[in-house]
Parts: sequence; structure tokens; C-alpha cells
Amino acid sequence: MKNKVTKAIFPVAGMGTRFLPATKSVPKEIMTLVDRPLVQYAIDEARAAGIEEFIFVTSRGKGALEDYFDEAPQLEQSLKDKGKTELLELLQSTNMESGQVAYMRQHKALGLGHAIWCARHLIGDNPFAVMLPDDVIAAEKPCLKQMVESYEQTGGHMVAAMEVPKDKVSAYGVLDLKEDMGSMVKVKGMVEKPKAGTEPSNLAVIGRYILAPTVFDHLSKKQTGAGGEIQLTDAIAADIDTDAGVYGYRFRGQRYDCGSKAGFLQATIAFGLARDELSGELEEFMHDILASRKAAE
Ligand code: UTP
Repeated sequence: MKNKVTKAIFPVAGMGTRFLPATKSVPKEIMTLVDRPLVQYAIDEARAAGIEEFIFVTSRGKGALEDYFDEAPQLEQSLKDKGKTELLELLQSTNMESGQVAYMRQHKALGLGHAIWCARHLIGDNPFAVMLPDDVIAAEKPCLKQMVESYEQTGGHMVAAMEVPKDKVSAYGVLDLKEDMGSMVKVKGMVEKPKAGTEPSNLAVIGRYILAPTVFDHLSKKQTGAGGEIQLTDAIAADIDTDAGVYGYRFRGQRYDCGSKAGFLQATIAFGLARDELSGELEEFMHDILASRKAAE
């Protein structure tokens, strides 16, 4: 198949300053949403979309992330001895096969675009996915799977997009639309973090992409953009006028910005409520705490 996507890059080399002091020693991607590290949600979504090779762009201090994907023979044996079969299966379902996962270092946090460029030699000639584990998406059909299915028809570059409130849009990469086809839009411009009042729409790019390898041609120029960083948005935008073009994909699902404290807390509540074994107790607690706050007002 022409546009089959089997590799994904997970850029995880950022400093995670919004979660200091926790991120002083714990990589953000390992922080726990209910009972799984953030990165596990991204891995599960990637697998569901047919990804077979997982490439992590890491940095100093991310050892816990690499360890997480190792097998844990002692732990597995102990669960086996105790007959805890369900837990054992759960644990084994997170193991990665040797050769399926690769790590590449970004030596300096020069921006998301630079992080992707660091993985260039591991990609080859086929389109590939980029997933930011900070963006956790609850969806009936996993977001990347929705995109991969549409990408088979479009080719080019595709970015996940969602409408955001006007006062929030300048925190994102924003699309300028040439044609709106409903779930898909054709793009004629992209701006990273536009100044308030200058944004071309309120359709923002979030952390899922399917990119053609031509993006590396632009990234290798190492041009800096918004915030003095090498921006992925700018490299994608450089291909807008090519035949292949750039598409925005309005995914169906709820996205949580787990790179921010408020977003992480919201995701924790939503994912907790979605779990049968937790929802009753959590609902009761929320009801009580909200009632007592109201009474104290
Ligand atoms: P963020 O903008 O969220 O930055 O990066 P951050 O460092 O992770 O977090 P804060 O803002 O300091 O709290 C978006 C994504 O791009 C990756 C991050 O790891 C995250 O997945 N990234 C960013 C890199 O891999 N390298 C970079 O140089 C910058």
C-alpha cells in the first residue's frame, strides 16, 4: 500500500518545566494517568493504528522511560508464583519486542522540529507518524487510526486539528484554511503561536501528525521560528504549495493536554470516571467535595 504508515516518532526530549519539581527526576511521559504512564496511552494508540516501529527521541534524565519498556523477569516470576495471572498479563502486554523500539538522543532541546530531525536516519522513504504523548485522546476509534485511514486517500502531510476557544488559540500552531471538507481541511497556511488577534482561524494543531519524509529537507536547514525554536509547524508549512499538500484532520474524540497541570487533572478525573471499578467512589467523592466547598462559600 502506497501510504502505509508503520513507524512513529515519539519526541520526549522536552524539559517539562510546567511540572517542576516533579520532572526534576521523573520524565513527564512516565507520570501516571490512573495506573498507566502517559506514554503507554500513546503506544496503545499507535499499535491500534498499525505502527510496528516506535522511535523515541529522548534526552538526559529519561532513563526511567527506557526501563519502562524492558521486561521485568523478577516481577513477572513473582506474580506467576502467586498465581496473579491477570496482573501478569497486564504487565506482559506492556513489553516491547527487541528491535521494535529505538532511542535517539536530542542533545539540546532546540525545539520539536529539531527533535523530529534527530530521528531522520531511522525513517527512510515512507510516511511516518509523530505522536506527542502529552496529548492524550479518548476516542471510540483511536485518533491515529482515524488519521491513517484518511491518509491512505490524501498523502502529503496530515496534522490532527481541533477547534479551540479564541483566547487559547495563540498557544498552538494554527491552520489557515483553503478548503473545508468537513472532517478534513486543505491548508493554505500554518502559523505557530500567532500573536493574539492575528490568528487565521481557531483550528489548532495538536500532537498527532502523519508526515512525508520531505519534512526533513526543511528541518535540516535548522531555521528557528516562534520562541527561537526549530518548529515542526514551519517545516510542514514549507510543503503547502507542493502537489501533495497539507491537510488538517478534525478527529473525533476528546483531547486532554496532559502537558499542563489543569489538563492532567481533568484527564485523571475523566479516565477515572470511565473505569467501572473507580467511577462510583470517585463520583461520590466529587459530589461531596463540591458540596462542602459550596457550603463554605
Ligand atoms: P512542550 O512544548 O510541551 O515542552 O513540548 P516540554 O519541554 O515538554 O514541556 P514544558 O513546556 O517545559 O512544560 C512538546 C513536545 O515536544 C517535545 C516534548 O518532549 C513534548 O513531547 N520536545 C520539545 C522535544 O522532544 N524536544 C524539544 O526540544 C522540545
